[in-house]
Amino acid sequence: MKLSERLGAVEAEAAAEKPRPRPKPAAAAARHPAPAPERAERPERPERPERPERPERPERPERPAREDTAAEDGPKARATRRTNAGWEGTKKRVRDLVLADLGPKLTGAKRVGSELEKEVKAALDRALQREDVRISPAERSKFVAEVLSDILGYGPLDAPLADPTVTEIMCNAYNQIWVERRGVIEPTDLAFTDDSQYRQVIDKIVSAVGRRVDESSPMVDARLPDGSRVNAIIPPLALNGPTLTIRKFADDPYTVADLINFGSMTMDLALFLEACVRGKLNVLVSGGTGTGKTTTLNVLSSFIPERERIVTIEDAAELQLQQPHVVRLESRPANSEGRGEVRIRDLVRNALRMRPDRIVVGEVRGGEALDMLQAMNTGHAGSITTVHANTSRDALARLETMVLMAGFDLPVRAIREQIASAINVIVQLERASDGVRRVVSVEEVQGLEGDIILLQQLFRHVPRVSVDGRQVGEIEAAGLRPKFLDQLVHSGVDLPASVFHAPVRPREVRPKTRAVPSVAELIARSGGPVTGGPR
Ligand SMILES: Nc1ncnc2c1ncn2[C@@H]1O[C@H](COP(=O)(O)OP(=O)(O)OP(=O)(O)O)[C@@H](O)[C@H]1O
Ligand SMILES: [Mg+2]
Repeated sequence: MKLSERLGAVEAEAAAEKPRPRPKPAAAAARHPAPAPERAERPERPERPERPERPERPERPERPAREDTAAEDGPKARATRRTNAGWEGTKKRVRDLVLADLGPKLTGAKRVGSELEKEVKAALDRALQREDVRISPAERSKFVAEVLSDILGYGPLDAPLADPTVTEIMCNAYNQIWVERRGVIEPTDLAFTDDSQYRQVIDKIVSAVGRRVDESSPMVDARLPDGSRVNAIIPPLALNGPTLTIRKFADDPYTVADLINFGSMTMDLALFLEACVRGKLNVLVSGGTGTGKTTTLNVLSSFIPERERIVTIEDAAELQLQQPHVVRLESRPANSEGRGEVRIRDLVRNALRMRPDRIVVGEVRGGEALDMLQAMNTGHAGSITTVHANTSRDALARLETMVLMAGFDLPVRAIREQIASAINVIVQLERASDGVRRVVSVEEVQGLEGDIILLQQLFRHVPRVSVDGRQVGEIEAAGLRPKFLDQLVHSGVDLPASVFHAPVRPREVRPKTRAVPSVAELIARSGGPVTGGPR
């Protein structure tokens, strides 16, 4: 089905499901205060995290603080309870008992919904009896849920992982957990019990995908079972302690209609991009980190006709194509002996032998740029990829550098010729300070003139700020028709000419902000005209 048909209901949907991201009011930010002072002081971290030893039978635990505050159950009361040392201390003791009880059974097994969960619950019951934790039934179920989540899940990360409004989770320390909601980063009052629990969770995440993080390999990329992308980096590389970043995998990936609703692109721009993809132009999506490159790539790939064979190549598989004929390839880092690495570049070369109609590369970062350009120039038109760059011009410069990384001593002009004939369109993305990600420029690569690659802007974002300080700019056509329009028509793709019409708006009458002195005034201020100079 074509975009124009699919988008019929876009306007109506606009207000309902996924609200347009808005700047977060100051009051809302205040609801997420910075970590409590007692948490801000980090306890001394052990030299190296060790396996929890089987703890000695602990003293009778303190009663969780909940009992004092049972009457109130507001956010303040909950916060008090969470930070209460008795509650956390008891939890830690019980958790350590269960861990010691079950030991190796906990590693490598399925997390939830399995025999293991039953075993953990039984071990937890035993531990609770031994600990003699006196808590009310309501309190007990909460306690059990938290300990279970610590053991079977990811402890305090379970809540933001389950929260669909959270798109990114960033842990800077065991007690500093930040999340991103609607493009805006905010602190939370979540915390691991201590450094060792934090490290256990990091180890659990990376070991589930057969990797490890320790002093010999202190940074690692991994994935959660739901597909979320994880990066962990620990000392000595991370100076402030272990740092964990999770880009949540959207169960329901954004569609073109969502991006239009968010104001990330307009209907006209969407129609234009759909025509480019259907017309087999090569598209490069460019943007800084987290600007929505992968999301846009996913949306652009959704325009590829169903009958075509698509090969996707990524470092961490994030794309979610809906077409029936998709082959997904993922690169692989070297193993602990430094062997077995399969780079994006190897996969691009391999893909050429897989009879692809389209090659979609998650991001070009190195020598694969050369293979990609050659593929685009030699019968694999219609390929799409992304690059990390702040402007379209920078994207071209980066491509050039990356081609050189392939290891051939190619003259710059030859590289530029390759780029100019391979890439047709560059879509530039930006993340504004209010958290909204949007297309800020679409440029056509027109060719090479002398040594310069010619770019022509077709769409641009015109920034405007409303009286109440909101960014209300619009994406507009620049009023120019691209040179490749004929190519699109030849490939049978129809595109209304109105898409390229620049909006006509009345000339703005701007109030004078600063009076500019006239020439006569300037002369008068400087003490009159200069006389007696050379004639
Ligand atoms: N147009 C958009 N509007 C709102 N949120 C968006 C938009 N595009 C992407 N996002 C959200 O922004 C986050 C980052 O998106 P995405 O992974 O596509 O960025 P990226 O540029 O590929 O990041 P990276 O450089 O880390 O690979 C995701 O959580 C995604 O859901
Ligand atoms: Mg990405």
